[in-house]
Amino acid sequence: MTKLLLRALAGETLDVPPIWMMRQAGRYLPEYRATRAQAGDFLSLCFNPELATEVTLQPIRRYGFDAAILFADILLLPQALGADLWFVTGEGPRLSTVTTQDDFDKLKQAGEIHDHLAPIYETVRRLSRELPAETALIGFAGAPWTVATYMIAGKGTKDQGPAHALKAENRPLFEALIDRLTEATIDYLSKQVEAGAEVVKLFDSWAGSLKGEDFNRYALAPTQRIISELKTRHPGLPIIAFPREAGAGYIGFGKATGADCVAIDNSVSPRWAAENVQKDGCVQGNLAPGHMVTGGQALVDATREVVAAFKNGPHIFNLGHGITPDADPENVQLMIDTVRGG
Ligand code: CP3
Repeated sequence: MTKLLLRALAGETLDVPPIWMMRQAGRYLPEYRATRAQAGDFLSLCFNPELATEVTLQPIRRYGFDAAILFADILLLPQALGADLWFVTGEGPRLSTVTTQDDFDKLKQAGEIHDHLAPIYETVRRLSRELPAETALIGFAGAPWTVATYMIAGKGTKDQGPAHALKAENRPLFEALIDRLTEATIDYLSKQVEAGAEVVKLFDSWAGSLKGEDFNRYALAPTQRIISELKTRHPGLPIIAFPREAGAGYIGFGKATGADCVAIDNSVSPRWAAENVQKDGCVQGNLAPGHMVTGGQALVDATREVVAAFKNGPHIFNLGHGITPDADPENVQLMIDTVRGG
């Protein structure tokens, strides 16, 4: 097993950590913008295996990252379950909402998603053929809570208010939605693995807005169920969990869910995460994405701080959240050179 990413996920402490970046195929890259224009729009790009493969490979060619992440989106799963999905330029995603029993009853069953998602599986198959031998392939899905927040509100929200409201007002319906998403996510990720994904990551971008027992029930428990079922179906499959902004909830999250690696956002210090989270196993993170915009000596210093904090245990170098469209591609190179060159 030579791929650096797989070695870190297996618990090995490496001299130089493997590197990849959330949203590494994205609008900060001119070659991405060109391919997206060729596809027409974002969703057409996601469902075009040839072009989705191309944009996944672009940051690998340019930077030689240690991992490629499938180009797709967490909202393709609700679409496969029957929700309408479109993207409003400059604003973000829009979906038909699920707020009543009637809305819920119209959703497809977990096992019925695969015809719609077949082009995504085809992209994974192409990537597993075309990637360099040293590059690991990561598949992904949104965690049930985060996906539910978009399905309930019909868009992204600052505080996930509509999802919290449904949870308070109609808990059985809310829990039925979480269960349907949990089952569909297991089937979706399982097909990605069969197509060639070597690692899977669960994005729980809004985990931080679940407090107390809600965090355990709707972030931790569904993640645990997905991981245990995936590991039964695919023994040895490494899994990264990202309960973003979980704060103290990061402590013990890997052990409680069975995740091989816990991805850390940049609202916590790397030193704190090393002491409290990395003590249990591999961590991923957590440079602030803003450095990819501002660059300079501050980028170098912050990168060195992350590397130094995590150097005594298994670590995958990444940002604390996705790179933004205003980032400078040269700053990404500076970050990589700093990680690899000291
Ligand atoms: O990381 C990667 O490069 C893989 C591809 C990927 C995308 N989205 C592509 C994308 C992944 C892993 C995601 C995950 C995703 N999508 C999350 C979880 C991670 C996070 O960022 O918190 C969420 C919440 C979404 C939903 C989503 N997709 C939103 C809210 C938006 C609009 C905001 C934005 O950045 O424009 C998207 C669009 C999206 N997904 C883009 C990309 C490259 C931009 C689309 C474009 O080209 O216009």
